[in-house]
Amino acid sequence: MTETKTRVPVKEETWRALVEAAQRVRDRAYAPYSGYRVGAAVLAPDGTIYAGCNVENASYGLALCAERSAVAQLVAAGCDRIAAIAVVTAGPEPGRPCGLCRQTLSEFADDDLPIGLAIAGEATLRAVDRLGDIFAHPFRGDLVKRG
Ligand code: THU
Repeated sequence: MTETKTRVPVKEETWRALVEAAQRVRDRAYAPYSGYRVGAAVLAPDGTIYAGCNVENASYGLALCAERSAVAQLVAAGCDRIAAIAVVTAGPEPGRPCGLCRQTLSEFADDDLPIGLAIAGEATLRAVDRLGDIFAHPFRGDLVKRG
């Protein structure tokens, strides 16, 4: 069976809004241990933007990444699909979502999810990744027995 998907490209002004939201929330990151501040903004299919920052803990392994923090905001608002995400980190190279975050994104998006990567203080994206290219064969929920 061939699946046909209509992929709507993210407009430049939408990327700008996502990066701005991610930059703003990055200022609120709680990162006293690593000093590495991350902001993320996810786009819902209706155009709403939800933002989240990383939240660290004295028990280091409890650190919550910005991407999962943003996804939690989207889900708490009653949405379960992500159309795009922007991530803002320090330089010199943009920070790509970690493995946990890639799996989390795959729960709410398909392989075509565009992931925009920006560096704090820069208005334009350094790169746009496609989720399926950086995280092939995610674990899908339809394999889990229910009931
Ligand atoms: N971090 C994120 O927020 N997103 C990622 O995808 C990778 C790492 C955060 C977690 C921790 O607070 C800091 O960056 C250093 O690992």
